Amino acid sequence: MEAQETIIVTGAAGYIGSHTLIELLQEQGCKVLAIDNYSNSSAQTYQRIKQITSATFEVKELDLCDYATLKKETNYLPTIRAIIHFAAYKSVPESVKNPLAYYHNNISSLNNVLRLCEERQIQQFIFSSSCSVYGNTHQLPVTEQTPVQKAESPYGHTKQIGEEMVAAFANANPWFSAVVLRYFNPVGAHHSGLIGELPLNRPNNLVPIITQTAVGKNQLTVFGNDYSTRDGSCIRDYIHVSDIAKAHLLAIHYLSKQRHKTAVSLFNLGTGYGVSVLEAINAFEKVSGQKLPYTIGPRRLGDVEAIYANNTWAQHELGWVPENTIEDMMRSAWKWQQTLESE
Ligand code: UD1
Repeated sequence: MEAQETIIVTGAAGYIGSHTLIELLQEQGCKVLAIDNYSNSSAQTYQRIKQITSATFEVKELDLCDYATLKKETNYLPTIRAIIHFAAYKSVPESVKNPLAYYHNNISSLNNVLRLCEERQIQQFIFSSSCSVYGNTHQLPVTEQTPVQKAESPYGHTKQIGEEMVAAFANANPWFSAVVLRYFNPVGAHHSGLIGELPLNRPNNLVPIITQTAVGKNQLTVFGNDYSTRDGSCIRDYIHVSDIAKAHLLAIHYLSKQRHKTAVSLFNLGTGYGVSVLEAINAFEKVSGQKLPYTIGPRRLGDVEAIYANNTWAQHELGWVPENTIEDMMRSAWKWQQTLESE
């Protein structure tokens, strides 16, 4: 790789962005520009990343919805090799309550980064999508060929629209190619215990609520135990955030070695195993050695009953093999919660 080439990472201080930044800095010999507006993250995360990697990288604070600033702040870069676009709002229930914020932020920022690709002829693009594009499907496990259904939430809908925007842009610009990664449920934290999910407000996702409940800072409610699943609670495919992070490096290699067969390559990133909410709680209790108090509540609006991945395509094409079990995920999330408690 050319020394002057830069990879731009948007949403770099966020949960998946920060874990990917670590992997990029540890493996790649290129320059990295980390962009974030800290709407759901903290600039302090970069200090931790420097501590873990001993690497340097450039940082810009900016809102991707503002194209003029994005353009101005990246003008100085001679060559931009790729953009890894994480920045987005990501809460299913919040998107049900406040859909316009989701459509505005997620669509407008994607539009602007693609516009930058066009203007600067940036040839490689990695887009963070989600298994929520599959909606309430009954074909399990889902493969990349499973038809996309009506999204259950505005969040899921923004990911469907995002995928279509990337495909339309790629079709119109033969010099451009993209990898779309459909994350299942990323959880856990870096094994160092130095970085992890850092919800600035009250979290909506299961695992941070579990670890906060264990330290008495939250109260876990299981949303529904009357689903048609093995124990009545919803089933998801939880996947360690560092396994997700590594897939982004493989995706960059995949595009660089021109191994892709189509302008846009889609991959499911999940373990291939479904875990119920009650099983996730059990796994936490096992690794932490403590009983977790919880109550059973009503179903949550926008939730699908069960979803898990067939990840054969990512294994075959990217060479991606997830390494962590649900216990590893819970152990690392618990270690991270303890780091937060000690500060
Ligand atoms: C959704 C998306 C996922 C995306 C994530 C980002 C789907 C199917 N998945 O995950 O692709 O990466 O948002 O935020 O849309 N739960 C409780 N009690 C709680 C919190 C959660 O029981 O307090 C349950 C939920 O009902 C769900 C499971 O735990 O069954 C996981 O929920 P959550 O962590 O919020 O993620 P999803 O909504 O599945």
